[in-house]
Amino acid sequence: MKDINTILELIESGIEEKPRLNSLSKKLGSFTQQKIEHLFKSSQNYMKKMIKDNQRTLFYKHVTQNLCKNKKVLEIGTGVGLLSYLILKAQPKSLISCDGNSQNILLAQKFLQQNNVDNNYKLLNKSSYDLDIPDDLDADIDIVIHELFASNGFGESFLQTLKNAKRFLNKGGRIVPGIFQLFYLPTCQPNLHKSSFDNIRNILPELDVSTWEDSPYMNKFTPFKCYLDKPQLVFQIDLNSNFLLSDNKIFELPPKCTGVMIYFNAKEGENTLTTLREGGPNHYFCRSFGEGIYQQFSKKSSKVRFSYNRENFSIDELD
Ligand SMILES: C[S@@+](CC[C@H](N)C(=O)[O-])C[C@H]1O[C@@H](n2cnc3c(N)ncnc32)[C@H](O)[C@@H]1O
Repeated sequence: MKDINTILELIESGIEEKPRLNSLSKKLGSFTQQKIEHLFKSSQNYMKKMIKDNQRTLFYKHVTQNLCKNKKVLEIGTGVGLLSYLILKAQPKSLISCDGNSQNILLAQKFLQQNNVDNNYKLLNKSSYDLDIPDDLDADIDIVIHELFASNGFGESFLQTLKNAKRFLNKGGRIVPGIFQLFYLPTCQPNLHKSSFDNIRNILPELDVSTWEDSPYMNKFTPFKCYLDKPQLVFQIDLNSNFLLSDNKIFELPPKCTGVMIYFNAKEGENTLTTLREGGPNHYFCRSFGEGIYQQFSKKSSKVRFSYNRENFSIDELD
């Protein structure tokens, strides 16, 4: 059996294949070929980052090993098939994995065939919302496993997808990972991120980098270390409960606070996947996927509101 790094390289080279643009153009209608190429490129870049994210891979490896043996598993979001591979290695009773993206299904199918996993799996090119009981599967699933988080946690509508997916679970069935937590850290300073440019100043000491340092655009994605307080829990969502699809929380900010950094944890038993930078490198910070995780305030604010609903997650400064 190939080791995990060889597998990662294999997926990565598979992902370089040219997508079938013709069938896609038909679906997207008004999109030009160039735009489609661009869309594919950014999703490929995202997938590459995800594949290289060892924290994420190890989290799902431990979780699947602990939970999937002899279980009927439904995976939502096949992607490039790495999580499907980990599930199959854990010897489930069966695996059904679905993805609305046909390119992903083709890629994952090939990847799983290449890696000699047992063929007690079915890949379906369907959104989970379109899965039909009993045509596609019976409602007797032990584990619905998911990895549908965007950089801020909420961007890919994972809450409503999982709520909808509960219809597939049997009586003791569970959503995995089962806990989602969003934290924020109040930050001060606009200047600490100057150190981000030390590298280039080492070789070009004459460089004036204040334009970059002052730019909110750069700020948004710069590592941030000046925290005014410990992490504050904003939302803790038990995905196996009857959780809310919209919520908001308001927090008082400490004096001198000039912005907030957010991160999320996905937890299952003893295992935690964290997007806190200090938790190790991860792919959720990638710029192509929308919102950054740091928001600098435009004015002096004494309170901040975090909210999510079906479509959006937002951070609002309040006076
Ligand atoms: C982060 S990727 C998952 C990667 C996957 N776990 C892997 O190891 O490659 C998320 C995937 O979920 C798919 N997806 C998002 N919402 C979905 C839904 N409701 N039903 C099916 N697939 C969905 C996307 O098309 C995308 O391929």
